[in-house]
Amino acid sequence: MDPFGRTLSYLRLSVTDRCNLRCVYCLPALVQGLFAPPQELLTDDELIVLVRAFVALGFSRFRITGGEPLLRPGIVSLIRVFSRMDGIADLSMSTNGLRLEQMAGDLAQAGLHRINISLDTLCPQRFRAITRGGSLDQVLCGLEAAFRGGLDPIKLNVVVMRGINDHEIPRFVRLTEDHPLHVRFIELMPIGDTGFFSKDRWVPLEEMLEKAGEGLIPLPPERWPKGFGPARYFQRPGAPGTVGFISALSQGFCASCNRVRLSARGVLFTCLDGTDGVDLKTPLRQGASEEQIQALICQAIRQKPEHHTMKERLLSPRCTSPRLMCQMGG
Ligand code: 5AD
Ligand code: SF4
Repeated sequence: MDPFGRTLSYLRLSVTDRCNLRCVYCLPALVQGLFAPPQELLTDDELIVLVRAFVALGFSRFRITGGEPLLRPGIVSLIRVFSRMDGIADLSMSTNGLRLEQMAGDLAQAGLHRINISLDTLCPQRFRAITRGGSLDQVLCGLEAAFRGGLDPIKLNVVVMRGINDHEIPRFVRLTEDHPLHVRFIELMPIGDTGFFSKDRWVPLEEMLEKAGEGLIPLPPERWPKGFGPARYFQRPGAPGTVGFISALSQGFCASCNRVRLSARGVLFTCLDGTDGVDLKTPLRQGASEEQIQALICQAIRQKPEHHTMKERLLSPRCTSPRLMCQMGG
């Protein structure tokens, strides 16, 4: 429990800060010097020790993130270790899907439960523009492989950007009528110095709902797809899939925030806001005991901010937080 009565049980674990895409809202075009040199990344053994420490503290839900987690060599073996650990009730991954076609079957067999795929557009040219060079086809093949592999539920994360993909909202909603997919529309957030975020590009929740059109029925929480995040879900009558909305700015969900993030460099962040993290890697490499690591995690949790200040920051000229998403654990 943190000082604001929130029970923290969910860790987003970044296994690499690298990515094979350069989404405009996530990374700058030039990434020279941005990514950690290999020796700065947590090793497999270090990741396992740290996950064990979180489990001992009552964490039971783990999401593997990046950068792009499927770029990490040996990721399937790592998933196999995690999926066999006592105390892990839910093991998921957020990926851009590029490598899923080859890897989805192995990931499912290794014990990964479910997957979120980032997909902001269904138009190949627009996909190439948003990701600075990616192939939509490759992601769609990955999505199919995830279905075949039995990963369930499959969620699509759509970051909504005005004038770029906001007109595609109805198309994504229709997708949930034809496939058992869970589409989540995510409000653009002012995170990281990418030069992309602006108030004009941000589409507030109310507007996203309007664009999603009529006929969306609010789903009671017991019918939401499995997950422990901040989305609120709706469904078109008779649809096999659902439609979710994640609104960090318009609504905020800090009061029920259940998560912390561990960056690929081994720094624990308790909020996306840009507040400083707590380095776990250095003490670990200096021989800290499991109890000492647990104490450091507890200390970080005690300093988890009550809420982020993204909305207040919208009013200032430099409104983005200092760290990129991939530097904080996805
Ligand atoms: N605003 C909103 N969502 C973002 N993501 C990355 N950066 C941002 C941002 N600035 C999303 C990705 C991915 C998820 C892990 O976070 O699209 O789906
Ligand atoms: Fe890579 Fe995901 Fe960032 Fe896109 S949003 S650049 S896929 S980490």
